[in-house]
Amino acid sequence: MRIAVVGSGRIGAGLGRAWVRAGHAVVFGVRHPDDPKYAPLMAETGAVVTTLAAALDGADVTVLATPFSAVPDVARELPDWSGRVVIDCTNAIGPGPSLAVGHTDSAAEVNARLLPGARLVKSFTAQGAESLAHPVYAGVRATNFYCGDDAHAKGVVRGLIEDVGFEPLDLGGLSAARVLEPMTLVWLLASRALGSREFAFTLLRQ
Ligand SMILES: NC(=O)c1ccc[n+]([C@@H]2O[C@H](COP(=O)([O-])OP(=O)(O)OC[C@H]3O[C@@H](n4cnc5c(N)ncnc54)[C@H](OP(=O)(O)O)[C@@H]3O)[C@@H](O)[C@H]2O)c1
Repeated sequence: MRIAVVGSGRIGAGLGRAWVRAGHAVVFGVRHPDDPKYAPLMAETGAVVTTLAAALDGADVTVLATPFSAVPDVARELPDWSGRVVIDCTNAIGPGPSLAVGHTDSAAEVNARLLPGARLVKSFTAQGAESLAHPVYAGVRATNFYCGDDAHAKGVVRGLIEDVGFEPLDLGGLSAARVLEPMTLVWLLASRALGSREFAFTLLRQ
């Protein structure tokens, strides 16, 4: 699968590394691809770092791994998002452990409105970037919750979650992001309490 990862920071690079290992063709879309800071990532992964427009061209899946505030810029890169499978990893949080969007709306729904026609799935938000490299804790796969309105897109994302090494768990339609996104705040407060980022959510079942 050809995956355009928009943003090559902690989440973008972490997902890109995992998907390259799983055999996908990863292309990072960035604002300044000639910046020498991308050389180590390209050398390590073999992935291409290019412009946003070039990365989006022909991608089977597009991943939003930028700040939430950058999504309007990304949206302007394409005249038509119809039918595109998009994974929204953004968190609209802060200042501090608070939600910028919530209760009757979610960052995912805001982003879906910015990308009309896109088949947007919220995922990879309620974990630290570190877990992307090792999603198995004491022999148990961490859970990656996801939600979206398009069954085909959710099937694709489910497979990509498994490719990273998480247990995928479908929470329902995109409005479930109103419940999923606050879990990031639980993660942040737990990180403060533990003094660590090396932990992840999972579900214990009989
Ligand atoms: N870090 C985590 O543990 C974590 C966990 C879950 C979800 N998230 C969410 O994932 C997203 C990315 O987080 P991160 O930690 O990976 O951030 P990061 O390390 O700061 O990386 C952000 C990336 O977005 C790019 N970017 C910024 N503004 C842009 C714009 N206007 N157009 C295109 N690209 C732009 C940056 O490019 P430049 O290099 O050019 O600045 C950089 O590659 C955020 O929404 C965050 O809330 C983060």
